Amino acid sequence: MQTTDRTTTAVEPLVLPSDQDATGRTLGGREIELVTRAIQSGTLTSTKGSLVRSLEEEFARMMGAPFAFACSSGTAAIHAAISAIDPEPGDEIITTSITDMGALTPILYQAAIPVFADVDPRTLNVTAETIKPMISERTRAIIVTHLFGNPCEMDSILALAQAHGLPVIEDCAQAFLASCQGRTVGTLGAIGCFSLQQGKHITCGEGGMVVASDERLARRLFLFINKCYGYGDAAPDHYYLSLNSRMSEIQGAVALGQLEKLKASTETRRLRAAELTARIRGIPGIEPFPVPRGSCHVYWRYCLLVDPQVIPGGAVGLAAALKLRGISSAPRYIQKPAFQCEIFQRRRTFGNIIKYIKMGSSSNFGNMLSMTGARLFLPFLPMLPIQILLNNFLYDLSQIAIPSDSIDEEYLLKSRPWNVEGIHLVILSLAPASP
Ligand SMILES: Cc1ncc(COP(=O)(O)O)c(C=O)c1O
Repeated sequence: MQTTDRTTTAVEPLVLPSDQDATGRTLGGREIELVTRAIQSGTLTSTKGSLVRSLEEEFARMMGAPFAFACSSGTAAIHAAISAIDPEPGDEIITTSITDMGALTPILYQAAIPVFADVDPRTLNVTAETIKPMISERTRAIIVTHLFGNPCEMDSILALAQAHGLPVIEDCAQAFLASCQGRTVGTLGAIGCFSLQQGKHITCGEGGMVVASDERLARRLFLFINKCYGYGDAAPDHYYLSLNSRMSEIQGAVALGQLEKLKASTETRRLRAAELTARIRGIPGIEPFPVPRGSCHVYWRYCLLVDPQVIPGGAVGLAAALKLRGISSAPRYIQKPAFQCEIFQRRRTFGNIIKYIKMGSSSNFGNMLSMTGARLFLPFLPMLPIQILLNNFLYDLSQIAIPSDSIDEEYLLKSRPWNVEGIHLVILSLAPASP
């Protein structure tokens, strides 16, 4: 096998920005000013303050949704959405396995049954084709996740949902300002859910948003977040079962400051992604995940398909090569498909209440498992110094050959991909740096 010095010599770690600290975040003076305003007001609850209300108004305007409500997390946003749909215990909700657990456990908390649809092997998103076979007479709703900021193919999904009279909940936790045919994701289905957790496009540490256009659903979203208390009603009461999922004024202050920067930082992400895509095109063995026609991808992660026939070792080999270039990496987005987690396998919920979970057979999820290629995920921050990445690694990717003795066994063991069919999911965690 051909080797080059580039791949065998370990180098000083590249110092790149991280979304886990100030180097990769846009938190600054504006957020401090707004937090100061919240503290000086002495009112830290959103039921009495004005900052969360301003955030909700601004968010609704920016997304083009009649109603928006802030809440405590992306998980709470999904929970509010499912409660708003109001499934009967045992109703089924179709969703995806390639997502955060916070998008799944709310289904169980509402005593509904998660049904895991297959995903498109080239985008890892659910599609109308993968959702259709999972629809049954008990199906009550469909949740789609716009994974990594790349929109699902919504035209066909919405047509299918409409034909079956099913509401679509859009999980936009990773997809702020992504759009399909000019319409912002989150406003295409019945309810859109967003996360403001530390690693997302904008953050207030922990937080979430929900948007809706239907007044009745909006009312149920508001009530769920507020212990189901009818604030402002003539004779308010706690009308039905719900929790307290409010965002505080301090979080609202930070989120409001962040929202003001969202358009600009998303645009920068997109420009950098376009630059990277232009450089990558034509390099044998790697190609970016495809973006559906008419869609705007907002690159929470920049994802590559890696052909192990061309790139020695596939994505894991590539990750090993990156490690030698000083870029640390992890082998996966999630540990394993959600339906393989203990909570679902053993139905560990409320005693024996959940009788079954549709987690698919080998045919469900078949697309995912039959994919012979590999995938590589680059965290993609607006301030990522793309030139450094290109100069240090990607620009001469086609030259790279990885000698097998350069691959650290222990690393590979830890990096074992989460399925046995040769699919390697790799996320690069880029070390911190100044922007
Ligand atoms: C796709 C998706 N859905 C839901 C969530 C849950 O959001 P949170 O962590 O804010 O509860 C996340 C966050 O990690 C996510 O990425």
